[in-house]
Amino acid sequence: MTSLLRQLCAASVVLAGVFIAGCKSPTSGANSSGSSGNDILVGEYGSITGPQATFGQSTQDAIALAADQLNQAGGINGKKVKIFVQDDQSLPANAVTAVQYLINNDHVVSVLGEVASSASLAGGKVCQQAGIPMISPSSTNTAVTQLGNYIFRVCFIDPFQAAVMARFAHDSLHATSVAIFTNNDQAYSVGFSQNFKKAFTAMGGTIAIEKSYSQSDTDYRGALTAIQQANPQAILIPGYYNDVAAIAKQARALGITCPLLGGDGWDSPDLITNGGSAMNGCYFSDHMAIDSPDPNVKKFVAAFQAKYHHMPDSLAALGYDAANLLFDAMKRAKSLSPSDIRDAIASTSNFPGVTGDITINADRNADKPAVIIKIDNGKFVYDMKIKNPNLPLSQQ
Ligand code: PHE
Repeated sequence: MTSLLRQLCAASVVLAGVFIAGCKSPTSGANSSGSSGNDILVGEYGSITGPQATFGQSTQDAIALAADQLNQAGGINGKKVKIFVQDDQSLPANAVTAVQYLINNDHVVSVLGEVASSASLAGGKVCQQAGIPMISPSSTNTAVTQLGNYIFRVCFIDPFQAAVMARFAHDSLHATSVAIFTNNDQAYSVGFSQNFKKAFTAMGGTIAIEKSYSQSDTDYRGALTAIQQANPQAILIPGYYNDVAAIAKQARALGITCPLLGGDGWDSPDLITNGGSAMNGCYFSDHMAIDSPDPNVKKFVAAFQAKYHHMPDSLAALGYDAANLLFDAMKRAKSLSPSDIRDAIASTSNFPGVTGDITINADRNADKPAVIIKIDNGKFVYDMKIKNPNLPLSQQ
C-alpha cells in the first residue's frame, strides 16, 4: 500500500479481504463477543506513520498477508478473521486511545501490537485492564509482558539481546572498552543499555562513557565529542533507525571511525537510505536473517514479495508469526471468548514460526536465538547466530 493510502486508511481499517473502499470501521453489526456475523474481529495498533513508520507498515503488511492466507484457507472453524488497524504514530498516549478504540468501538477479541516497547507498555495496560489478550510481535523490553497475564510476545527480551551484543563485542570484536549512547525517551533503549552494561562488565569489559539523548534531538555532536574523547573501541547505540542514521553521520563527520553497535531497533531499510556509508562496518542483533535458506523463511519471503513487491524485514516476519500464532490459538481455544483465547495462547508450544519455533514460556515470552547482522557496503549481511550469551562464541 502506498503511504498516502495508508494515511487515508490509518484511522481504522478493515484489512483482510477488503479493499480500499472498505477503509471504514463497521459502526454496526459487531457485538461485544467480538464476532460480527461470521467474522472474528482482531485489532492491531502500530506506527503506520511517524518517526518509526517502517516498523508499523512492515508489521501491518505481514499481518494482512497472514489474515488473507488464513481466510483463503477457510478461516477459523468457518469464520473469517477481520483486522482493524489503528495508527498510533508510536506515541504512548496515542497507543492508549488506539487500543481503547479497538476494544470499545471495534469490539475486537484480541490485539496485535505494538512494535516499540514504550507504546506496547501504554497499550498493553489497557488490554490487561479490559481482559483482552495482546500479542506484541516485537517489543523486547522486559516490562511489557510483566503488565499481566493477558500480555504476550513472540520474540526474545532485551536482557538476552543486550547480553548477545556484549558477547559479540567481547569475543568477536575483542573490545575491552565500549561507550554507550542511549535514547532516554524510549523504554527499549534505556533497558537495552542497562542490560548491556551489566553483561559486558561481567565479562571483564569497561564502559568508557555513558551519554544519552532525547527523541526530539537532532544535533548529537556535543555528546559525540565527549564519547570521542573517551576513546572507546565501539559505541553501543540501542536506538531506532532514524536516530541511529543521523547519529552515525554526525559521528563520522567528527572523525569517529570505530564500529557502532545496536539492537533490533536498527532493522529498517531506512537505516541505510538515511545513514548511507556511515553505517558500514557496524553490527546489530536481530531476530532472524531474512536471506536464510530455511524453507519456512523462503516460503514467507516469496509470499510477501508476491503481494508487496519488496523484501520483508524481520519486523514483518515477527508480525506474521504473531498473527499466525494467534490464529492457531483461536483454533485450539475452547471458545472465542477473550479469556479462552488467552488460555490457548499461554499453552502454545513449539509453534513453527518463520522466526523459529515458538513456545510461550511462563513469563509469556518466547526464548529464541538471536542473529548478528553486519552492515557491509550498504547491505545487511548475516554474521552469526548466538543462542546462549553466557557461553563463549566458540561454544554456540
Ligand atoms: N525491540 C524493539 C522495541 O522493543 C522494537 C523492534 C523490534 C524494532 C524488531 C525493530 C525490529 O522497542
